[in-house]
Amino acid sequence: MSEPRPLPGTSIPVLSGRNLRKVYREEDGSELTILDGVEIDVVPGEFVAITGASGAGKSTLLHLLGCLDQPSAGVVLLAGRCGAALTAGELAAARNRIIGFVFQFHHLLREFTALENVMMPQLIGGRSRAAAAARGRTILDQVGLGARAGHKSGELSGGEQQRVAVARALANEPLVLLADEPSGYLDTHTAEQLHELFFILRRETGVAMVMATHNRELAERADRVLRVKDGQLNSVDPGSS
Ligand SMILES: Nc1ncnc2c1ncn2[C@@H]1O[C@H](COP(=O)(O)OP(=O)(O)OP(=O)(O)O)[C@@H](O)[C@H]1O
Ligand SMILES: [Mg+2]
Repeated sequence: MSEPRPLPGTSIPVLSGRNLRKVYREEDGSELTILDGVEIDVVPGEFVAITGASGAGKSTLLHLLGCLDQPSAGVVLLAGRCGAALTAGELAAARNRIIGFVFQFHHLLREFTALENVMMPQLIGGRSRAAAAARGRTILDQVGLGARAGHKSGELSGGEQQRVAVARALANEPLVLLADEPSGYLDTHTAEQLHELFFILRRETGVAMVMATHNRELAERADRVLRVKDGQLNSVDPGSS
């Protein structure tokens, strides 16, 4: 079980899961327990790698932590606030402010430009178009895509699309970035470039990162490695992942 760790300067983790349980009901009525009693605390600025076999429940866990899905039992705390105690509107606002999510396959809007994709969560969060565009250009510069801001995302390469997805996830300056095998569809070289970008962005912004990954090199560079197995989340040595 991952141990909650004291925070220097603050006692509030940016994101926590308390006693998380996820059960899927099969068509024949039987139940499939994927996660059971999972505890996790993510402290500001740390990089946590989530490993585990295919089908173990990594994506399920990230979706729960990102409030994209609801646990069968247990709660998710966003900067100390219980997600379940918020109204739908409050939860959406808190999620938009606190969490950035990068999917395995970027999930960009293909017909919109890179800049428009990065502006979207900011407009939803209440920023003006001018402010969202200015911030969008800055963050696209940061991920090395300033020159591609006006390109439709569907016309970008796989690695570029994933970098736009990272820019979109960071557009609202979240406290934590959740990424579900963000380099899963990329070739080795492009994946390494993306990983390097994550470390640069963490250094520059202080954002915490929780990443599901099968990539050994990436897991070895994490502050902590947690493995999902048999419904449980356990700490593992970064070297033995
Ligand atoms: N909506 C659903 N209904 C029923 N079962 C589901 C559903 N979503 C996921 N599962 C099952 O839950 C288990 C965990 O799935 P999950 O996608 O979290 O695994 P994972 O660790 O991310 O795997 P991978 O490494 O292949 O991405 C799998 O057995 C999957 O079939
Ligand atoms: Mg998965």
